[in-house]
Amino acid sequence: MTTTENTDFEAKYGSDTRTVTLRVNGKDVTREVATRTTLADFLRDDLDLVSVHLGCEHGVCGCCTVLLDGGSVRSCLMLAVQAVGHEVSTVESLSADQNNLHPIQEAFAEEQGLQCGFCTPAMVLRAQEILADGKERSDDEVRHEISGILCRCTGYQNIINAVQNAGRKLRCGGAGSCGAGHEADKSKGA
Ligand code: FES
Ligand code: FES
Repeated sequence: MTTTENTDFEAKYGSDTRTVTLRVNGKDVTREVATRTTLADFLRDDLDLVSVHLGCEHGVCGCCTVLLDGGSVRSCLMLAVQAVGHEVSTVESLSADQNNLHPIQEAFAEEQGLQCGFCTPAMVLRAQEILADGKERSDDEVRHEISGILCRCTGYQNIINAVQNAGRKLRCGGAGSCGAGHEADKSKGA
């Protein structure tokens, strides 16, 4: 926003601020925020959690998805002050070490479930949410469950393969101890 636009916006909507404490990725963080600050802007601008990607900023693309108490929400449609008292998780919560990836992240890498990566943090978090029940899923079931997040690159099939691969990893603890193998299924193609 330009200075003039910002002044107009504040005249119309006010510039109230509030000190909030949010629990993000397992830690309590306290900041003073304008009450109109979205959760997405708070995570990106105040906490530097730039895995939260802003595409449309009005609830369509799903790329700003984060988990709120384990359930996916569009952080562009929620205010930071509304998240007080809830547990917010971004993809940074899965692994702080690129050499020690979470099984879901491993599966996305193995199946080439990403290209530009813009939708990937949202897809990985959505996978974490849906796989929490430990159930196997068909292609159609995964396709339906990730349909709220738009991917402009992959054609979705490799993301579906990645979610299914991640499910297998999580069901056996991720170490291949079930003997079923966790290699990318090359027969499914690109
Ligand atoms: S940026 Fe939030 S849904 Fe598109
Ligand atoms: S990998 Fe580019 S938008 Fe999904």
